[in-house]
Order: sequence, then C-alpha cells, then structure tokens
Amino acid sequence: MKILIIGNNGQLGQSIKKILLSAEINEEDEFIFSGREDLDLADEESISAYLNDNIFEIIVNCAGYTAVDKAESEEELAYQINHLAISKIAEISNKQKVKLIHISTDYIFDGVSEKAYLESDDPSPLNIYGKSKLAGEVAVFSAMQKNAIIIRTSGLYSEYSNNFVDTILRKAQKFDKLNVVSDQYSSPTNASDLAKSIIHIINHKKFRNNDQLTQIYHYSNYGVCSWFEFATEILELANIDCQVNPIETKDYLTAAKRPKNSFLNTDKIVKDFGLEIPFWKDSLKVSIDNLL
Ligand SMILES: NC(=O)c1ccc[n+]([C@@H]2O[C@H](COP(=O)([O-])OP(=O)(O)OC[C@H]3O[C@@H](n4cnc5c(N)ncnc54)[C@H](OP(=O)(O)O)[C@@H]3O)[C@@H](O)[C@H]2O)c1
Repeated sequence: MKILIIGNNGQLGQSIKKILLSAEINEEDEFIFSGREDLDLADEESISAYLNDNIFEIIVNCAGYTAVDKAESEEELAYQINHLAISKIAEISNKQKVKLIHISTDYIFDGVSEKAYLESDDPSPLNIYGKSKLAGEVAVFSAMQKNAIIIRTSGLYSEYSNNFVDTILRKAQKFDKLNVVSDQYSSPTNASDLAKSIIHIINHKKFRNNDQLTQIYHYSNYGVCSWFEFATEILELANIDCQVNPIETKDYLTAAKRPKNSFLNTDKIVKDFGLEIPFWKDSLKVSIDNLL
C-alpha cells in the first residue's frame, strides 16, 4: 500500500519517520512524506493537484496550524489549514476510497469537566485553535461516513523542537527560576508513543481491511499532571538545578484561553486496537534520555 504522511517536518511526522526506521513494516507498504513544498495546506489547489497526481491507499495528516496563541490573530490562516484543508483532503479521500487518519486536539474541550474526557463528550473549544480543529473534525465526518479515524491527543512533545519539554530545558539554561502554571491539567504525550500507535493502527486489520464507520479516538500517555508538575519532572530527569514556582493561570496572561482540565479517556483506542499506553513519567524519561 502507498501511505502518505503529511507534515514531514513536524514533531509527529518526524517521530513517525524515526519509528519506521526500526519498526516491522509490511514489505508491500511504501511510506511517502510530504512537506509544505509538496502540498501546501494553505492552498486548496496545491492539495488537489498533489492528491490527484499521486494516488495513495492511506493518508495520515500530522500537519496543522499549531500556534495556539498566534491563532487568535491569524484566525483565517488557522481555519484555512485546520478546517478547509482537511475538508478538501477528506473530500478527495472519500472520492478516491482512501483511508484517512487525522490528528486533533484536547483543546476542542472547554476543560470544565473533573473527569477524563470521553470521545462522546460535547466539544466546546475556548480558543480559535480549538475551534478551527473542531471544524476540521466536523469536515472529516461530513465528507467521510466511513474509513476515517480522528485521533485527539494532548501535550505533544518530542526530541524535535518547539514543545514544552524543549522550552523548559532551554529556559532552565538561562534562568535560575521559572514560573509555571499549576492549575491547568492534561496528559503529556510523547510523540514517539503516538507515532508507534499510528503505525500499529495502520497495520491493524480492523483499520486496513474493513470498511469501518468514521470514528474518533483519544490517545495520550497515561496519567495526569499540571504544567508545573510536568516542568518539575523534566528538570529532575534532566538533572538540572532550576527552581520551578507554581503560578495560577490568572497570573500568566496568554492571547488564547486554555482548558483547565483536558485529560483524555483512552479506553476506546486501547480496547479497539489492543494498544498498551505507557505512563507519562516513563515516556518522558525515555525522551529526556534520548535528548541528553
Ligand atoms: N503540539 C501539541 O501539544 C499538540 C497537542 C494536541 C494535538 N496536537 C495536534 O497534533 C498534530 C501534530 O502536532 P505537532 O506538534 O507534531 O505539530 P508541529 O510540530 O507544530 O508541526 C506542524 C506541521 O504542520 C506543517 N504545516 C503547517 N502549515 C502548513 C501548510 N500550510 N502546508 C503544509 N504543512 C504545513 C508544518 O510544516 P513546517 O515545518 O513547514 O512549518 C509542520 O510540519 C497537529 O494536528 C496538532 O494540532 C498537537
């Protein structure tokens, strides 16, 4: 099968590329990675041209507009990439009978729940990023009644730059003290674990061989923590001496509002695909060990 991974330079795209170097892959499978120079999500004609010139059996969309705060002032671009582009990809996938895996976010929830969010819970995003990602989910459902999977994840980090782990390590080299929000909770997710799970799903007969109704799944590492607890654990594992002070959201102004509790219930993906999900601290240790 020809399998397209969109977003070759992002954290998840790069993590999938790395996993494929050591994973057991079907001999008949060929993975192709695209970047914005091949397929520009901000340009619908570029999407159509690429997907009509190159035919795939499976598409995994790891790309997106992911700058949560910047999205507040770039609403049109965020919607173009997270909504209209995925609408086009899903429409073409449906026409070409391509199976689609699309990645979404915990930020489609408002975070007022005290429990882990289920796939069936009502979305109610607080910011433009979350609203544009939710519009992308709705577009997948309206174009593809069958053969698409939406995986919502949270707090993605990796050995590649532009994530919370990388930011904390960088700032701790510069400052003696860091202030980190202690009243927002979610589940950090090692992109490498999500990448392995995506490859597992691609190889799973439930996804590969059958026509299945389009589904949403939640995937994050097990366990829940605040950003403050996450930062403290990062510095402890990296053996860096820097004081972390807990602060409240109200004292840390950002352009975009964020959910207070956005941890995801992952039972459905575990049950349907037989996945084993590592605890967040164990996965963080693997990532930090790889970095140091
Ligand atoms: N990061 C998180 O904490 C988090 C949490 C929950 C869900 N998610 C979701 O998980 C998925 C993967 O996230 P990530 O952290 O791996 O993202 P990332 O590292 O920010 O990478 C985003 C990718 O999208 C590409 N992209 C942006 N605009 C594009 C365009 N116009 N045309 C083509 N490609 C474009 C980027 O390309 P360039 O490198 O060329 O810019 C990059 O490869 C996304 O759907 C995101 O919404 C992320």
